[in-house]
Amino acid sequence: MMITKRPSLSVAAAVLAFCRPPSSVAAGPVRGDASGRGSDDPFQGAMEKDAESFVFNSYTMTMSASKIEDPGFCDDSSEGVAGYMGVKGSKYDDSEDEKKLFFWMYKKRTASQNSADTDLDEEDTPLIVWLTGGPGCSSSLALLFENGPCAVDESGESTSVNPHSWTESANVLWLDQPANVGYSYGQDNDANESMISEDVYYFLQAFFRSEEGSGFVNSPLFIVGESYGGHYVPAIAHRIWRGNKHVADDAIQLNLQGLAVGNGWTDPEIQYGQYREFMLENGIIGEEEYDDLEEAQERCADHVHSCNSGDSESDFACQAARATCDALYSPFFATGLNTYDIRVPCGPNPLCYDFSHIETFMNSEDTKRKLNVLEHDPVWQTTFICNYLGNRAWTLQLEWKHDDDFAAAEEKDWNDGGGLVRSSNGFTFLQVYDAGHMVPTDQPAKALAMITQFIRGETF
Ligand SMILES: *[C@@H]1O[C@H](CO)[C@@H](O)[C@H](O)[C@H]1NC(C)=O
Repeated sequence: MMITKRPSLSVAAAVLAFCRPPSSVAAGPVRGDASGRGSDDPFQGAMEKDAESFVFNSYTMTMSASKIEDPGFCDDSSEGVAGYMGVKGSKYDDSEDEKKLFFWMYKKRTASQNSADTDLDEEDTPLIVWLTGGPGCSSSLALLFENGPCAVDESGESTSVNPHSWTESANVLWLDQPANVGYSYGQDNDANESMISEDVYYFLQAFFRSEEGSGFVNSPLFIVGESYGGHYVPAIAHRIWRGNKHVADDAIQLNLQGLAVGNGWTDPEIQYGQYREFMLENGIIGEEEYDDLEEAQERCADHVHSCNSGDSESDFACQAARATCDALYSPFFATGLNTYDIRVPCGPNPLCYDFSHIETFMNSEDTKRKLNVLEHDPVWQTTFICNYLGNRAWTLQLEWKHDDDFAAAEEKDWNDGGGLVRSSNGFTFLQVYDAGHMVPTDQPAKALAMITQFIRGETF
C-alpha cells in the first residue's frame, strides 16, 4: 500500500501564543459508576442495541455509538455520529476495568456553508482525528469552540453553524481522551504516551471495523492536535506506523497520510528555552531581566534533560524541572495578559476564556441524549497553553533525513500576508499571524485554508 502520496509530516503553529506545560496531569477520580450501566441507566436500551464488540490480542473494544438523529442539531448539512468506544485489556492495564472513550464525528458537509472550494471526491475525503491537549481538555470543546460545524450561542441553549468548520474539507472525528476527560470516563490510570497511543491505535482498529466507521477505512487518515496534543499526535502516529510495519493477523493497515500539531507542547527542553526570547520580543521583559533568566534557563534545561532520560534520578529531576522552569515565565503572569493570547487581558476566568455557555450546553440532558452520552459527571478542562518561537526552535532542531534541507528552506509569505511558512520534503512549519493559542477560534478562515491545503497534499 502506498502511504507517501501526501506529505508524511507537518507541523502547524501560530504566533502570539504563550506556552507553558500543564501543572498537573489530567482528570480526577472515576466519576459515578465506571461501567456506565447501572440498572437505572436511562440510555441503557439504546446503547445496548447498537453495541458491537471487537477483540484484538488482549483488547476487547466495544463500540456503542450511533447516528445523531435530530437533523436540526448542530449542523444539518452534515451527518453526525456520537457515542463511546469501550477499551479493555490494554497490555499496560493490570485490571479488568474498562475505559469509555467518547467520540463525536461529522462527515464532510454535503453543502458548503461559505464560498470556499471544497470539491473533493467522496472516496478521497480524508478523515481527521482531532486531539485537544491539556492534558485534560476535551476535544468536544474544540468542536464547539474552534473547528467544528457549530458554535454554542451565548445562552448555552442553542447553536449556530460555523462556516469555517473543518468539515468543509474533511470528515472529522473529535476524540475525548484519555479517560476522565470530557464525556469520557472509566479506569483512570493513563500515565504516559505509550498507554494513550496503544488505546488510540486499537480505537481506530475497532472503529474501522464498525458499522459507522467501516466506510472510512480507506480514507486518507490524518492525526491532528493542539497544545499538549504535541505529545499525543507524534506518539499516536508512531504507534500507527509501527502497527503498519508488521500488521497483526487481526489488524488493519491504517491509511496514515500525515500529522499536524497546532501550538504544540512537544519538546520542553527546547521550548522552555524560548520563553525569555518571546517575552523580550513582545516587550514583557527588558534586556536586564532577559540576562537574569539565563541561569534559570540552563538549570531548567538540565533538569528537563534528566527528567526525560528515564533513569533512577529522573523522578526527582522532573519535580526539580517543574520548580525551576516555572520561573522562566513568571514575568508573563505579572502582566495579567491572557496566557493563550497576549493580545488581550486574561480577565476573570481561570483559563482566561469564558467557556460557561459551552459547559451549559454540554451538560444539558437534551445534548447528552442526542450525543448518546452515558450518565456521569463530565470534566471539561484542567489547563492547557505554546508559543511559535518554541515550536520553530524544535522543528529546526529535529533530527531527520532532510533536516539540512528544512533548515536551509526559505521562510515564505503564506496566504497573502496571513502567515509565514517553511517547508521541505513534506515537513512544514507555519506561523499564522494575529492569532492566540487556538488558531481556529481566532483565525477560522485561515485555519481552514491551512488544513485544506495540507490534507490535499498541496505545496506550501
Ligand atoms: C508508560 O507506563 C506504563 C505503565 O506504568 C509502563 O509499562 C511503560 O513502560 C511506560 N512507558 C514509558 C515510555 O515510560
